[in-house]
Amino acid sequence: MTESMAAPQARGKKYKDAIFGASNAAQADIQANGKDKVVNGTAGVIQDETGTLVCLPTVEKTYRALPMTEIIAYAPVAGLPAFLKDAQECCFGDYRPEGYTVAVATTGGTGAIHHIIHNYTCPGDEVLTADWYWSAYQMLCADAGRSLRTFRLIGEDGGFDHEDFQRQLSAMADRQEQLAVVLNTPAHNPTGYSLTDEDWDRIFDFLKTLVARGRKITVLVDVSYIDYAGPGARAFFRKFSGLPPEILIVTAFSMSKSFTMYGVRVGAMIGLSSSEAVAREFAEVNTYTNRATWSNNSRGGMACLVRIWEDPALRRQYQAEQEQYYQLIQERAAIFVKEAKEAGLPMLPYQSGFFLSIPSPDAGKVCALLQKKHIYLVPLRAGVRVAVCAIPKAKMHGLAGAIRDAMVEAGQL
Ligand SMILES: Cc1ncc(COP(=O)(O)O)c(C=O)c1O
Repeated sequence: MTESMAAPQARGKKYKDAIFGASNAAQADIQANGKDKVVNGTAGVIQDETGTLVCLPTVEKTYRALPMTEIIAYAPVAGLPAFLKDAQECCFGDYRPEGYTVAVATTGGTGAIHHIIHNYTCPGDEVLTADWYWSAYQMLCADAGRSLRTFRLIGEDGGFDHEDFQRQLSAMADRQEQLAVVLNTPAHNPTGYSLTDEDWDRIFDFLKTLVARGRKITVLVDVSYIDYAGPGARAFFRKFSGLPPEILIVTAFSMSKSFTMYGVRVGAMIGLSSSEAVAREFAEVNTYTNRATWSNNSRGGMACLVRIWEDPALRRQYQAEQEQYYQLIQERAAIFVKEAKEAGLPMLPYQSGFFLSIPSPDAGKVCALLQKKHIYLVPLRAGVRVAVCAIPKAKMHGLAGAIRDAMVEAGQL
């Protein structure tokens, strides 16, 4: 009797997520021993100082006030027109790049990445991202018959490793005409690193040499954490002006973190090109793929953004609430960074954002040892991820030392 009905390319697919595994273990410990005893640094969501999931108050008030019809009705396949306009303003702020920009609504940043792989690479192609990456990138590629290639994010000098970036992309360019690169910045998950203006200059200088070799390059800029990256975090958008039409910039804007609406599943992919035809094609192919993938997006989520963005008082309130959580996360991270330095614990260069990371050759072993002390972190391929967005300040004290001790016990320090 057959044990598989899945088609050959689907056989063996299994969703195993290190994050949810660690999170379930933390929940079980909380049930058994109480919240106060447990440090749960697994969830990629903002939790307040009592460990409760945060919804920005203006978002809650606005969403709850929407008429029911505005929540349940279908939305246009490309997204509500007002949302497509406002999402661009919300994303770019005062730093809208010059060129033709066009937005298509997506199911969060995930949807944007899905569509880029689908519409801007060929079956069998590789997609390039950093060696520290959000694990869904790999699954999104594999599920579409593509594969993920990585470059070393941080070089010996503690900054973006341009040499390896260029080496890996050149190798891809030897075999592919269509090239896609995914860069998560600012406030990268899982390190908290942000590319500098100089990094962008060097990246575009290099991409132009590939254009001269006849290559077409799509750069997906995943800005999921941009609203927790501090003042000036948007200035790099200006670097995207005046690029050749063979370089398409796609900014993945997400309401998940920016509006604390993780489960509402709304975002937008914003294409930017110096060619009007390329921008028009972007709208067409991605609207088509919306229809062919999930049809249309949550109308209520889009309407909520429009109501907040178009009301100056609500917008100010919303931005002030966001700022308050940005500051809180900075304070939590500062405690960790200071103590890591004192304890001699190496970490990736953190600037801002929901996560920081500790390099480890066997993160699973370190995390298992930490669990014995009721500390729950996420083991990644390259190290341990700490969700500073979720850990109250009181529990940040002593955490770096505990990780250092676990690494010593594991023979890694
Ligand atoms: C780096 C990164 N990109 C994209 C996403 C996707 O989020 P969403 O699809 O909810 O916008 C996440 C979520 O954790 C993320 O960490």
